[in-house]
Amino acid sequence: MESQTMSSTFGTLFRVTTFGESHGKGVGAVVDGCPPGLTLGEKDIQPQLDRRRPGQTRLTTEREEADQVTILSGVENGRVLGSPIAMCVANKDQRPGDYAQMQSVPRPSHADYTYQMKYGIRTSSGGGRSSARETIGRVVAGAIADKYLHEEYGIEIVAWVSSVSTITADEIDENLITREKTDETPVRCPSPEKAEQMMRAIMAAKEDKDSLGGIISCVCRHVPAGLGEPVFEKMEACLAQAMLSIPATKGFEIGSGFGGTRMPGSRHNDPFIKKEGRLGTATNHSGGVQGGISNGEPIFFRVAFKPPATIGKAQNTADFEGNNVSLEAKGRHDPCVVPRAVPIVESMAALVIADLTLQQRMR
Ligand SMILES: Cc1cc2nc3c(=O)[nH]c(=O)nc-3n(C[C@H](O)[C@H](O)[C@H](O)COP(=O)(O)O)c2cc1C
Repeated sequence: MESQTMSSTFGTLFRVTTFGESHGKGVGAVVDGCPPGLTLGEKDIQPQLDRRRPGQTRLTTEREEADQVTILSGVENGRVLGSPIAMCVANKDQRPGDYAQMQSVPRPSHADYTYQMKYGIRTSSGGGRSSARETIGRVVAGAIADKYLHEEYGIEIVAWVSSVSTITADEIDENLITREKTDETPVRCPSPEKAEQMMRAIMAAKEDKDSLGGIISCVCRHVPAGLGEPVFEKMEACLAQAMLSIPATKGFEIGSGFGGTRMPGSRHNDPFIKKEGRLGTATNHSGGVQGGISNGEPIFFRVAFKPPATIGKAQNTADFEGNNVSLEAKGRHDPCVVPRAVPIVESMAALVIADLTLQQRMR
């Protein structure tokens, strides 16, 4: 049977294909279209992988993976050649035995049922491609895009946890926030007081064999005006697609987002003012994008993540045959995904902006 889909490939000119299952031998990505000459080594990629890695703190899954990246091709003497850059990361700490009951019982709100319906077959454990291990490919590719954007344009992409469950930190200044500041707390919320409350809530949920959702905010600074391809590849449309392709995401907002609907236009409009060497805006309810094209202001958006599905608490559900069963999921799972999803959001933003940058250069 021939498949015409390219569902594991993302981007037009800066293109990434991710590969690998959760409990297979390894995962990774092939990047095609990275501009040649960029200086690149594994040390440029590893820091973002370390931020995504499981087992970092007690707030995340206890699966223990070193997640060391190896560059297989496309780089010589520390410079990108312009040929495909293949990168892989080995899986080491698989425990397929943890998934024995889940072979007959699809996990509520996970992807076991839908993968089975779509493909008629699925991996016997760990969620296969629906597992967050797939996002390693996005992070290794995103780290390259991020380096390119930083060196070529001075672009800075920073994401942080702005809420966990009902605890919200809305006092963060997106003009000043840095990755270093975000990493000062294990939950990756730059407000120490709110971070403390979030960590307590996550530990209580873990204790209770339950899980919590949260929101990640992200800012992309120094993005030049003019990026985004109206009408179907608008900047915000590409960002929304990229973000909603991350597992466990449930919402995307740019600029004022849903909250903006409560403002009159007179307050919502962003008046133009003269800024250093360009026309800028006094406020940024637009989130740095107008008409699908970047306007030179910081691009600001938020991504909502649900409480992860695999929980140890007993749940009444049905097996594949339709028989009522009680499921208490075994295995090591994240009680809340947002602390680890921060570098994934940054990586997907970098992939979108790198691709739109190359498209603008083609004009
Ligand atoms: C960083 C990260 C870690 C995750 N860890 C888990 C986990 O431990 N257990 C789980 O059930 N889901 C986890 N997920 C979410 C699942 O992969 C996702 O919910 C599942 O594939 C179903 O897809 P959907 O929620 O997008 O519909 C994680 C997601 C991310 C981004």
